[in-house]
Amino acid sequence: KGDPRLQAISEAIRVIPHFPKTGIMFQDITTLLLNHKAFKDTVDIFIDRFRDMDISVVAGIEARGFMFGPSIALAIGAKFVPLRKPRKLPGEVISEAYELEYGTDCLEMHVGAVVPGERAVIIDDLVATGGTLSAATRLLERMGAEVVECACVIGLPEVKGQRRLNGKPLYILVEPR
Ligand code: PRP
Repeated sequence: KGDPRLQAISEAIRVIPHFPKTGIMFQDITTLLLNHKAFKDTVDIFIDRFRDMDISVVAGIEARGFMFGPSIALAIGAKFVPLRKPRKLPGEVISEAYELEYGTDCLEMHVGAVVPGERAVIIDDLVATGGTLSAATRLLERMGAEVVECACVIGLPEVKGQRRLNGKPLYILVEPR
């Protein structure tokens, strides 16, 4: 996509082979957070994209979506909604399960965090199968929000190749190295 900032963002992400298990090339965004320019450029690219899209909700996925979402929300004048792993949110929640390689996991959202008709974007660090973002999308839609787009720093090429997730636009900055 020709943006000269993207190569530096990609290079700021550390790749750790065989974590958390053999064969996985872990994409470690903590080194991106240590690099002020690359971190700011990452957030700024999302802010520039979403600023004029009439977005009132930025939803972030636990845990690494929490590291990017709030900065974006503050800059575009939106609320931030955390989508959390089970049994973390204290209020009334709705839940959506999603498939893992072995078994299932679940995301939860507080009832009342959004009102019907709000326009939302969902932020995470990485999309692989898309299962997590799909569950997040279902949570927001069950509460009556419109999911305008899902956005991640890193996207696996096959997902990037299709550019959409369950019919929703998917916005990706870089591929894994
Ligand atoms: C990672 C990543 C995404 C998800 C993407 O989170 O941060 O949330 O996997 O995978 P998918 O597209 O195949 O659903 P992880 O499950 O490691 O949870 P964590 O952030 O709480 O460690």
